[in-house]
Amino acid sequence: MRVAIIKLVAFAGPAHDKVVVCYISTWAVYRPKPGAYSIEHFDPSLCTHAVYAFAGLDITQSAIKSLDPWQDLKEEYGKGGYERLTALKNSHPHLKVSLAIGGWNEGSKNYSTMVANPLQRGQFVKQVTSFVRKYNFDGLDLDWEYPTQRGGSPRDRENFVALTKELREEFDGYGLILTSAIGAAKNVIDQAYDVRQISRYLDFLHIMCYDYHGSWDHKVGYNAPLMAAAVDPLSVQFSIDYLLKQGAPPSKLVLGLPFYGRTFKTALQGVLDDASDGAGFQGPYTREDGFLGYNEICITLSNKTSGWTKQWDGQTSQMLARAERNVFTQDVNVVTFDSSRSIANKVKFAMRKRLAGVMVWSVDTDDFLGECEIDEDTFADFRLVKTAPRRLNHNYPLLRTINEATTLALEEIAADEIVVPDDSENEIPHGSIADRKNAAASVISLSLTSSLLFTLLLGLAYSL
Ligand SMILES: *[C@@H]1O[C@H](CO)[C@@H](O)[C@H](O)[C@H]1NC(C)=O
Ligand SMILES: *[C@@H]1O[C@H](CO)[C@@H](O)[C@H](O)[C@H]1NC(C)=O
Repeated sequence: MRVAIIKLVAFAGPAHDKVVVCYISTWAVYRPKPGAYSIEHFDPSLCTHAVYAFAGLDITQSAIKSLDPWQDLKEEYGKGGYERLTALKNSHPHLKVSLAIGGWNEGSKNYSTMVANPLQRGQFVKQVTSFVRKYNFDGLDLDWEYPTQRGGSPRDRENFVALTKELREEFDGYGLILTSAIGAAKNVIDQAYDVRQISRYLDFLHIMCYDYHGSWDHKVGYNAPLMAAAVDPLSVQFSIDYLLKQGAPPSKLVLGLPFYGRTFKTALQGVLDDASDGAGFQGPYTREDGFLGYNEICITLSNKTSGWTKQWDGQTSQMLARAERNVFTQDVNVVTFDSSRSIANKVKFAMRKRLAGVMVWSVDTDDFLGECEIDEDTFADFRLVKTAPRRLNHNYPLLRTINEATTLALEEIAADEIVVPDDSENEIPHGSIADRKNAAASVISLSLTSSLLFTLLLGLAYSL
């Protein structure tokens, strides 16, 4: 009896009813230690959905295929990554696990070719269904980056609708989930997606709300600003509002959060808009120019003798950190990134917009080993939070922030509703009064359910 109850508590999912979609970039296993991330590092209690990224497209067979058979499969003494991840559902029944196909390195052209031919498309739909079922996945995540772009064709827009429609019809027979990663740039949304149509067939749209600025701009900019100047479409708020305006139901939108920053090298002071080189710098684990994992950033910032300083921008909810000028190159290294305060504020934004929840790219660059100092300003912009929630564990600070912020934001929104029912002077930004009413109703029922659950657990504990 005692064992059974401990299991029930330890292996539950997040304590709210929003989605937390966790991408795992499975090549992270090849990073140098201690940055290397394997499926055994994944903590299913912090996510509602896990996404295995990526599988690829075999255009000659119109089929999904493993891009790394040794890691993914069990054949020929492979490491069986697909089944190691889906096996976590046995101990964590709340968890849904999808396989993602695509990603940046897969390009766009082969997808464009496949969807243009109804015969090939039909073959793909059948094959992908049996493939995801074979490895016990709960569904498929389409990560074609992007229809109509990067060598694609203007017809991709309607063909992508056909693909999602046909996958939906097939998947419904097996109860499979169909989602897609969606580009956040206005021109990509305009050209690539018939938002209203794909929203009919997808369970969730995972909006990639990052990479708004990077070293490719040749000046220092924020990776993922929550807000921007009124006319600037390069912000999280713009992307989400624009998709809602195109007819995406909020209940299907999932806000993407970056667990990484964008890096720059500049000969100037290292402030926003400073001219910079085109490549940025790289980190010791991720080893990619212009990119630093949050774990690589927070380790450096936790080191008091590293010479790095950081600066919060409340306007955009972004953090900018800079090194001391390099005495040899005379450059200043700069990184812009999401701190836990940024993440908390974006979660609150998603809750105010009544979105389904949030997605993260990707869990393998959170501080999954718990090596960094915990930020003390995480909930500084949460009116009702006096002290940060107590944590049982110091690892995964960003994922823990997401789950805490979800509950706290829903409480704050409900409290606003009760204290100032119809007072337009106290209007919350980003949400109509009607929205607020609906939210309050659902939050009250949510907190009733969770307090019921706690009472139940308490009762069980007492009976021990
Ligand atoms: C597209 O398909 C061709 C033909 O099979 C293949 O050679 C090529 O590598 C594929 N492109 C990508 C980016 O995988
Ligand atoms: C902290 O930073 C300094 C200066 O870069 C470095 O020499 C030292 O090794 C770092 N300490 C740790 C624990 O990484």
